[in-house]
Amino acid sequence: MINELEKDIARVLVTEEEIRTRIGEMGRELAERFQGKNPLFLGVLKGCFVFMADLVRACPVNSDLEFIAVSSYQNSTMSSGRVQITHDVQQDITGRDIIIVEDILDSGNTLAFLKNYLMTKGAASITIVTLLDKPSRRAKAVDADLAGFVVPDEFVVGYGLDFAQHYRNLPYIGVLKPEVYTK
Ligand code: PRP
Repeated sequence: MINELEKDIARVLVTEEEIRTRIGEMGRELAERFQGKNPLFLGVLKGCFVFMADLVRACPVNSDLEFIAVSSYQNSTMSSGRVQITHDVQQDITGRDIIIVEDILDSGNTLAFLKNYLMTKGAASITIVTLLDKPSRRAKAVDADLAGFVVPDEFVVGYGLDFAQHYRNLPYIGVLKPEVYTK
């Protein structure tokens, strides 16, 4: 039976199984890169929360984790370009190897800002990991070091990604029906 979330989904873009398989690969790749280095996984809230939970469990290295919350969309479908920190990192990150964990790299405004912010706070290295990469919308020159899936320029939700704070709890990545966000 179709539920009240799924009725707004035009089609499934990335299935649960595809996500699970790809995160397994990403976790193993990060484990090879960071073995013996004690990296700090830094999740960018809120969108990262599902991906972060799966990624850290797929990456068997000594590590710790933190979250930072930023906002630039303010309930719009277009990035405002102004990135605000709404919850900052709670520990000194001087000298740390940071793995930024994002759900999606879109305009690049968020990650361009965060990279600069974390460098000024003294990070030793910054590795950008994103589940989804939407290169067609890039406004800032920022690339992921590791991306799960390249996605087309469509409004995607689920697996942590929202529209107006809804749909984050869909277990897959879906394309939202345009009539939902053009209402
Ligand atoms: C989304 C997403 C990224 C950012 C990517 O966050 O989680 O952080 O936008 O877009 P960009 O590359 O265009 O900057 P959002 O501001 O919607 O907040 P959320 O994580 O709470 O959903």
